Amino acid sequence: MHVSHLIEPDRVHRTVYTDQQIFDRELTQIFERVWVYCGHQSQVPQPGDYHAFQIGRQPMFMVRGKDGQIHVLHNRCPHRGVQLVGNQKGNVGGALVCSYHAWSFQLDGKFRSTPLPRGYDGTRVGPDNPDCSVKRAARVDAYRGFVFASLSPAGPSLLDFLGEARVAFDDMCDRSPVGEVEVVPICHRVIQHSNWKFFMENQLDALHPSVTHQSTGVAAGRIEKQIKDRTGKAPLYYHYLSAFASKFEQWDAVQTINFPRGHGILKAYMGLRPQDPDTRAHEAMLVEAYGAEQTEAYLSRGIHHVLVYPYLSVQSPLQQLRCLRPISPSQTLSEIWHFRLKGAPEAIYRRALWYYNLVNSPATMVNADDLENWTKGQWGLASDGGDWVSFHRDHGGDTEQDGVIYSNHGTSEAVMRNQFRAWVQYMADTL
Ligand code: FES
Ligand SMILES: [Fe+2]
Repeated sequence: MHVSHLIEPDRVHRTVYTDQQIFDRELTQIFERVWVYCGHQSQVPQPGDYHAFQIGRQPMFMVRGKDGQIHVLHNRCPHRGVQLVGNQKGNVGGALVCSYHAWSFQLDGKFRSTPLPRGYDGTRVGPDNPDCSVKRAARVDAYRGFVFASLSPAGPSLLDFLGEARVAFDDMCDRSPVGEVEVVPICHRVIQHSNWKFFMENQLDALHPSVTHQSTGVAAGRIEKQIKDRTGKAPLYYHYLSAFASKFEQWDAVQTINFPRGHGILKAYMGLRPQDPDTRAHEAMLVEAYGAEQTEAYLSRGIHHVLVYPYLSVQSPLQQLRCLRPISPSQTLSEIWHFRLKGAPEAIYRRALWYYNLVNSPATMVNADDLENWTKGQWGLASDGGDWVSFHRDHGGDTEQDGVIYSNHGTSEAVMRNQFRAWVQYMADTL
C-alpha cells in the first residue's frame, strides 16, 4: 500500500484518519512493532500478579514471575485459544491454568502440564514444542520502572526508541527523593470517538486552549480572582484551569521541541513551582537526597508534557500518563494513569490528584471540550466536504537542527508535521 501521496509537507489527506485499510496497516506497521507501554512494575508487585492490556490488535498481559522478573505474554492458551486471564488485573497463583481444559504453564509462559497426559503420548504436545507454550512478546524492557514490550524481534532498543522522550520518566521519577514512582492502581478509561491522531496532535497544540477551553478558563479565573481579593491567595488548582484562558500571545511564546520518531515536548506554561510550605518541604527532601545543585537541575527542566509517539502523553511534573490503545479508525481507548512520588509528602500527591480530576479525567470540563472537538473533527473528515487537513501554520518558520525541530512560535503546527514525518517512515517501513 502506498501512502506517501497522502502526506505533503504542509497538509495530509483526510483518509489517513478514516480509512480502514490505512488503520489496519498502522496497527501492523506501527503499533504492533514499536515499543508499547505495558504498565508500571508496581502494578504487579507479587509473583503471579498480572495486568492485562492490548498491543495493537493483540490482547496481552504482563505477569510477575517467581524470580521477580516481569514477563509479557499473549493472552491465548496454546491448546484451543482461550484467553488465559479474564480480568484486567489479578493474581494467577503459582502457575497459569487455563479455565477450559486445565493446560497449565509456568509464569514465564512455558508449558507445564495437561490433565491425563497419556492422551498426548506419541503426539507433538509436550514441553519441548514451543507451540505448546504461551507465546511471549518478542522483546520486553523497562525504563525507571515503566515496562514496555515490542512484538517485533528486530528494531531499535527501548532507549533508542524513546530517545530524548525518555526525559518524561526522568522528570517524573527525579521528583521523588528515592527516584521512584508507584502507580495509583486504577485508571480512568475513556473511549474517544475519533482517530488516535487527533489526541496526539492536540497534546502539543498550543493554539487551541484559549479557544476550546475558554469558558472553563475564564470562569475559573473569575473565581480565582475573587478568592485572591478576599483572602490574599487562591488555591493552586484554580490556576490549573484559569491558565487555559491565557492569551494567544502567551501560548505563542511557549515552545515545542519535536524529535525524530514523532516524539515531542511542550515546554512549561503554568509556572508549577509555587513557594508554599508543602512545596518547600518537598524541595527540602530532594535537596537532602540529591544536593542543592542536582535538585535545581531536576526541578528546572521546564516541561509541561512529553509525547512518546504514537500513543503516550506523559505529564511528568504532575505524575500523570495517558496511553492510547486504538480500536478502529474512529475509536480510540485512552487510559489515564496517575502515579505517586515515593517518599514525597502526601500533600504533593493530593495536588497532582486535583489536576488529574480537574483536567485529565472524564469528569472534567477541559477533557470534555477536547473530546467534543475530536468527535466533530472525525465526522467532518468522514464527509465529502473537503479532502485535505491543513498544517500550514508556521510552515517554513521553524528551526531544524540535527533532526530536531524547534518551533519559533508555540502555536506552530510543527508538531503535526513532525508526527506525520515519522508516520510516513513507519508506514513505508523506513523507520
Ligand atoms: S483451551 Fe486452554 S486448556 Fe483447552
Ligand atoms: Fe485541550
